[in-house]
Amino acid sequence: MRIAILVSRVRVEEKMLLRAFKAAGADAEFVRITEIPFELGGNRTLRGYEGVLIRCIGHLQCLYTARIAEGYGLKVINSYRTIHICGDKLLTSLALAEEGVPVPATAVAFSPQASLGAMRILGFPVVMKPLHGSWGRLLAKLNDPEAAEALLEHKKVLGGYTHSVFYLQEYVVKPGRDIRAFVVGERTVAAVYRYSSHWITNTARGARTRPGPVTPEIEGISRAAARAVGGGILAVDLLETPAGELLVSEVNHTPEFRNSVGPTGVDIAAEMVRYALGVFAGDAVGAGKGE
Ligand SMILES: Nc1ncnc2c1ncn2[C@@H]1O[C@H](COP(=O)(O)OP(=O)(O)O)[C@@H](O)[C@H]1O
Ligand SMILES: [Mg+2]
Repeated sequence: MRIAILVSRVRVEEKMLLRAFKAAGADAEFVRITEIPFELGGNRTLRGYEGVLIRCIGHLQCLYTARIAEGYGLKVINSYRTIHICGDKLLTSLALAEEGVPVPATAVAFSPQASLGAMRILGFPVVMKPLHGSWGRLLAKLNDPEAAEALLEHKKVLGGYTHSVFYLQEYVVKPGRDIRAFVVGERTVAAVYRYSSHWITNTARGARTRPGPVTPEIEGISRAAARAVGGGILAVDLLETPAGELLVSEVNHTPEFRNSVGPTGVDIAAEMVRYALGVFAGDAVGAGKGE
């Protein structure tokens, strides 16, 4: 079976995955999506491959290559559906809430004025996030209505069209860290704490990674979150409330994991590859409904 790892740029993670495929005896190689045209109809561009692992960096690259490869009739991880939901924080929140997965109180507004109304309901401080994005970019913690008004005006005047949808969330007072859980199919294979003195705890923003336990509670909520968004190979961001409850902040569809291998001692790439080979061979199905 030939496997294509679709990449836009080869990061440490992609090298780890290729090595893990080879270690498992699989015939895998990188396909650089920026170097070839993708012809529509039939299976023109990815002829000869049976399984496709999407590992592009840009969200739209992941989204559309997954859709095209599915259209070619190939087995694709993650699925177009999963990438579509996870790449959009509003669709993710809706999918999670509809499946009963605990999430922070969240509201959406379609104008600055309605946003101020939503903020009054959620209370200050309030968090505003872009619908699309990662690495903690463009997140704002608004401590009072004056700061909110200024940001709303900036977004209205300077923002692109996706900035006309205002995604607002209660600020969760977490204990100087969040939790990132890696879900592979039906299993939560590893979890890390991400510590920072800043309220944004992405490692891309300098947070330190420490091993975290995969408690039954973390395992349960992470698996439920992964299922709700369609399943696959995912990283679930969890926030701890002062009462010790866990809430899902977001689910990531093409997770980076280089900083989590050392602290946890888990060969995350090998776990991903084992799952992928099972799905490609047809003896495992995605965790999500409708798959
Ligand atoms: N509602 C919130 N309350 C407190 N901290 C939050 C909240 N939402 C996000 N954060 C912090 O910001 C980080 C990034 O948020 P996230 O929604 O995961 O966006 P991104 O896609 O940029 O990673 C989280 O890991 C967490 O540390
Ligand atoms: Mg995140």
